[in-house]
Amino acid sequence: MSILVLGGAGYVGSHAVYQLKDQGYEVVVIDNLQTGHEDAVHPEARLYKGDIRSREFMHSVFEKENIEAIMHFAANSLVGESMVEPLKYFDNNVYGTQVVLEMMKEFGVKHIVFSSTAAVYGEQKVIPITEEALTLPTNTYGETKLAMEKMMAWCEKAFDLRYVALRYFNVASARSDGQIGEDHNPETHLIPVVLEAAIGKRPAVTIFGEDYDTQDGTCVRDYIHVEDLIDAHILALRYLQNGGESNVFNLGSSQGFSVREIVETANAVTGINIPVKMGERRAGDPSTLIASSEKAKQVLGWKPTRTSIHQIVDNAWSWHFQHPNGYQK
Ligand code: UFG
Repeated sequence: MSILVLGGAGYVGSHAVYQLKDQGYEVVVIDNLQTGHEDAVHPEARLYKGDIRSREFMHSVFEKENIEAIMHFAANSLVGESMVEPLKYFDNNVYGTQVVLEMMKEFGVKHIVFSSTAAVYGEQKVIPITEEALTLPTNTYGETKLAMEKMMAWCEKAFDLRYVALRYFNVASARSDGQIGEDHNPETHLIPVVLEAAIGKRPAVTIFGEDYDTQDGTCVRDYIHVEDLIDAHILALRYLQNGGESNVFNLGSSQGFSVREIVETANAVTGINIPVKMGERRAGDPSTLIASSEKAKQVLGWKPTRTSIHQIVDNAWSWHFQHPNGYQK
């Protein structure tokens, strides 16, 4: 029996495959390699190149493989792009998930763990954000992830399926042994952008706004080490397999760091005085996002262990320093 990882060549999905392999699971990967990298796929995982929206392709993989459960990371995930191309997001994220659920129904696969996002919450007044907060997405990306959650909830009522939706805060860093890491094109996330400025791949990092109502005026975010994040996925899988009910959990490290604090940490980690420019606010950025992850700790027994921001930036730095062009050879 295998775990099917959808999007297993992408940043988060590839880390899931490595950690599932660490734990002795058989792993099958589906990825269309639109944003993923073939070299990010664990050499002992079977990769099927294709699109989750193709029923024919999906059917052929489900027929061939003996799939016991699914981890679903195959989605577009850029907030800015989702506002310009909303239909691309509904098509890939929502319709793609519909096809996945059709296959689960047809082949009797009962458990799915999937990546949702803090973007389902939109702007929240009460920090830290718990799972009870109202979901009011302010961008198409968050709306499509919420639609995916709801689609699963309705399917559960209709047929035998259980799911765990994991709402990520700011996923960061790289596998601590340096084998795989983050490689987006274009890169928009703060930590890799700062480290690209450190290695001279970009002239400077632009801080998007210094007039927020925070300690130093820059936005505060909750950064979670990708390996801690994946630990929670494996616990969620076991939780479902042990009979746990469908559920939703926030995943963050419950601590907030400002953009300036991230740059200062990167200066300390790299020993480089990273050039910084001040810029305008980026549209749609909430000032502060910090998770309450108490529920994941209590229900799943999750114990994040890589919560030091120094370690998060340090592991990211090892990857970027050794792979300045990512997976490109
Ligand atoms: N930032 C900069 N300069 C940059 C890049 C980012 O100042 O060059 C700032 C942003 O304004 C923000 C913070 O750094 O305040 C973090 O930005 P990221 O782009 O790294 O991450 P976001 O918080 O925007 O996005 C994350 C996830 C999304 C998810 C969102 C939920 O990456 O997938 O949280 O709000 F949807």
